[in-house]
Amino acid sequence: MIEEQRSQWGSKLGFILAASGSAIGLGNIWRFPYTTGENGGAAFVLVYLICVVVIGIPVLIAELSLGRHTQRNPVGAIKTIVPKGAWKILGYLGVITGIVILSYYSIVAGWTIGYIVKTFTHTTSDFGQFIADPKSEFGYFIVFLGLTMLVVLGGVKEGIERWSKILMPLLFLILLGLILFAITLPGAEAGIKFYLSPDFSKITGKTILAALGQAFFSLSLGMGAMITYGSYIPKNTNLITSATTVALSDTLIAIMAGLVIFPALFAAGMSPAQGPGLVFNVLPQIFSQMPAGTIVGVFFFILLAIAALTSSISLLEVGVAWAVDELKLTRTKATLALGFAAFIIGIPSAMSQGYSSFFSNLHLLGKTGFLDIVDFLFGSFALTFGGLILSIFIGWKWGSAKASDEIMYGLDKNYKPVLKIWSFLIRFVCPVVIFFVLLNIFEIF
Ligand code: TRP
Repeated sequence: MIEEQRSQWGSKLGFILAASGSAIGLGNIWRFPYTTGENGGAAFVLVYLICVVVIGIPVLIAELSLGRHTQRNPVGAIKTIVPKGAWKILGYLGVITGIVILSYYSIVAGWTIGYIVKTFTHTTSDFGQFIADPKSEFGYFIVFLGLTMLVVLGGVKEGIERWSKILMPLLFLILLGLILFAITLPGAEAGIKFYLSPDFSKITGKTILAALGQAFFSLSLGMGAMITYGSYIPKNTNLITSATTVALSDTLIAIMAGLVIFPALFAAGMSPAQGPGLVFNVLPQIFSQMPAGTIVGVFFFILLAIAALTSSISLLEVGVAWAVDELKLTRTKATLALGFAAFIIGIPSAMSQGYSSFFSNLHLLGKTGFLDIVDFLFGSFALTFGGLILSIFIGWKWGSAKASDEIMYGLDKNYKPVLKIWSFLIRFVCPVVIFFVLLNIFEIF
């Protein structure tokens, strides 16, 4: 299928739903709780909220404005602004990062699909056994990646937008129900305290890096996904209110997920610092104690899998938009080639959950196991680094004045002061803060 005219979202609401669909996913319900658990709880949550407001929202507005202005994928967008020079490498980095994140994102999403089945059939094997079994590990991985490719093949409006429409409200409602149940469990108070009453002595450079990385991951920033989604926005969309709506709904869902997980976790006497398995160990506990737990559990994991799907398609769409625009591949060829690449890259991650002791015990930068290491390098570091270069590119190279003109399009004068604040944040605060936070990786700071 060759797209002659660049497609657009069907409506403003359609765009907001699709962008929220990209943002809301495993990042909120799987990654946010276990990262919070590893980084000491409430203090991390506070730093995270600050990162979303001070860095996340400005970078989100910046990505959307560059996308809408150029109507291109990240590589093409950068080339439109600066035809020559090294800046476009940032676009390639985005394409690669998207495919690598997709590789392990699909594995974790596969666990979710597996848990639909497990909950339904009351299979009792524990999480560790489940993910160490290569049959289920690879089977569900391939199913999820295949679904992602199918939706991306369908294109923007039919594929992506349609899926996002009913899902968000449903996910919200089921989380609300689960919170009410979890906080009334005996022993839940300790979890609420861990999650909401900050111990500031726990904030270190590493905490801040983890919080910033999580903000980029959760808001789908730093690799051009929002440039790509922005390229399909009609001109008359208000970028400031859209970005704020997306960021707030994403943050709300993450905070709600924590309110389910931590009370239940402490009620069951489990450790908060158990890493990526956290929610998969805790959630079945909740469902097994709940009235009608099987139904609720099955329904929850179905919603989570769909939320993951509306996110994973944006990871793949970036590379597909690039291959279609720049390499002139058909959408079908681009999707098949990049999906296959994600599968190959995902193999060691899939084997790193107990099946292959080599990949499971690999140790780097304080992370153990191939999946965790790749998540740190691409899901935290590459996104944060991408955000640094992107804020310099948009704030200084393209220039915040030109970007502001794009953002102001169709808005009234009252937005002028807001844009002044945005310019200041994107030119000074974002680059400087991100730079210092990144130094942590090398333990310089
Ligand atoms: N934000 C999604 C989540 O929280 C994951 C995701 C989708 C993403 N697209 C992205 C992360 C682009 C980084 C960049 O589950």
